[in-house]
Amino acid sequence: MAMNSRPLGGISSLTALFCATATILSLICAPVAARSGYTGLQNGFYSRSCPDVEKIIYESMYESFKKDNSVAPGVLRLAYHDCFVRGCDASVLLAGSNTERANLINTGLHGFPAVEAAKAAVEKACPGVVSCADVLQYAVRDTVILTGGQSWTVPAGRRDGRVSLSSEVPENLMTPDKKVPVLLQAFQKKGLNAAQMVALAGSHTIGKAPCLTIDNRLWTYDSPSKVDPTLPASFAKTLKKKCPAAGLTTPIDLEVVTPTKFDTQYYKNIKNSLGLLTSDQSMWEDSRTKGEVVSNINSHTFSSNFAKAMIAMSKIDVLTGNSGEIRRVCSVVN
Ligand code: HEM
Repeated sequence: MAMNSRPLGGISSLTALFCATATILSLICAPVAARSGYTGLQNGFYSRSCPDVEKIIYESMYESFKKDNSVAPGVLRLAYHDCFVRGCDASVLLAGSNTERANLINTGLHGFPAVEAAKAAVEKACPGVVSCADVLQYAVRDTVILTGGQSWTVPAGRRDGRVSLSSEVPENLMTPDKKVPVLLQAFQKKGLNAAQMVALAGSHTIGKAPCLTIDNRLWTYDSPSKVDPTLPASFAKTLKKKCPAAGLTTPIDLEVVTPTKFDTQYYKNIKNSLGLLTSDQSMWEDSRTKGEVVSNINSHTFSSNFAKAMIAMSKIDVLTGNSGEIRRVCSVVN
C-alpha cells in the first residue's frame, strides 16, 4: 500500500527523527510516517547493507552511457514516468501486456537495459538488498552528472511495487499538447508546485521527441495556416524541414541549441519562443511559471532548483518499511 508523502501535520518532528534513527523500529513507525508525511527515506540508507551501491551504479551507468549517450535522457524520463504513476516504486520497469510500459504514452520509453545492468551489478555485490526503485533514482542522478549537470544526494529506502497497470498511465502523465493550467493540476496532485514543475521540465534540456508530438504546432493548429502563431516563422520553417508531414515518428531534439548538454539552454529557448513542445512553450505564457523560467536561466539557480525538485519528485508515494519487495530483476516481480 503506497504511503502518502504529503504532510498532514499533527505529528512532531521529534517523532520523525526518532523513527529515522531507529531503523529497527521502522515497522512500528510506518503508520506514523504515513500520517506525518515522513517518507522513511534516508540519505545513506545503504551505508551498512551495501556501502558501494552508488559507486557500482555510477560505474555501470558510465559504461552504458559510453556505448550510447541516449540512455541519459531515456533513464531520466523513466523517473518522471515511474514516480507519477503509483509513486516511485519501479512499477514502470515491470514488463508485460497490461503494464504501464505497455501503454501508448510509454511507447517511446527507453533506457531499461541500462537500469537492468546497474541492478545486476548491484545484485552481484549485495543480493536482495537494493530495490529497483532506488537503483532507478541513483541512476537518474548519474545521468544528469554524465551529461554535465550537478549532482545531488539521493535519499533511499524505497521498496518495489508488485502492481503495474497500463490503465493508470493516461490520468497521471501529461501529453505535450497541454498547457500550464492542465499541467500544473497534474503536478499539484502529486504535491509539486509551479516552481518545481518548471525546474523538472528543465529535463527537456536533453533528449528527443518524435515529430508527431509537434503536429499540433506545425500541421494541425486551429488557424488557416495550421501553424502555431507563437512559433517564430524561421523556427517553424526549420521544424517543418525536420518534420515534413504530420504523424511522423522521426526523432528531433527537444532543445535545439545544445541538445546533449544538461544546461539552462532549455529556458533560454523558451524565452526566445524556441521551446519545442506546446507544454514547454506554455510556461512562458502563464504568470505562475514565466518568472521561474527566467530564474532558471541562471545555472546556479537551476542546479539548486532541479536537485530539490528531483528529490521532492523521488518521494512521491514511496513504499518503505515492509511494504512491497526488493525485486531481484527489475522487469518482473519476485
Ligand atoms: C510537464 C509535463 C511533461 C510533458 C508534457 C512531457 C512530455 C514529453 C514528451 C512528449 C517527450 C517525447 C518523448 C516521446 O514521446 O517519446 C518527452 C521527453 C522527455 N521528457 Fe518529458 N514531459 C514532461 C515532464 C517531464 C519531466 C518532469 C521529466 C523528468 C523529470 C521529463 C523528462 C523527459 C526527458 C529526459 C525526455 C527525453 C527522452 C528521450 O530522449 O528519450 N519530462 N517528454
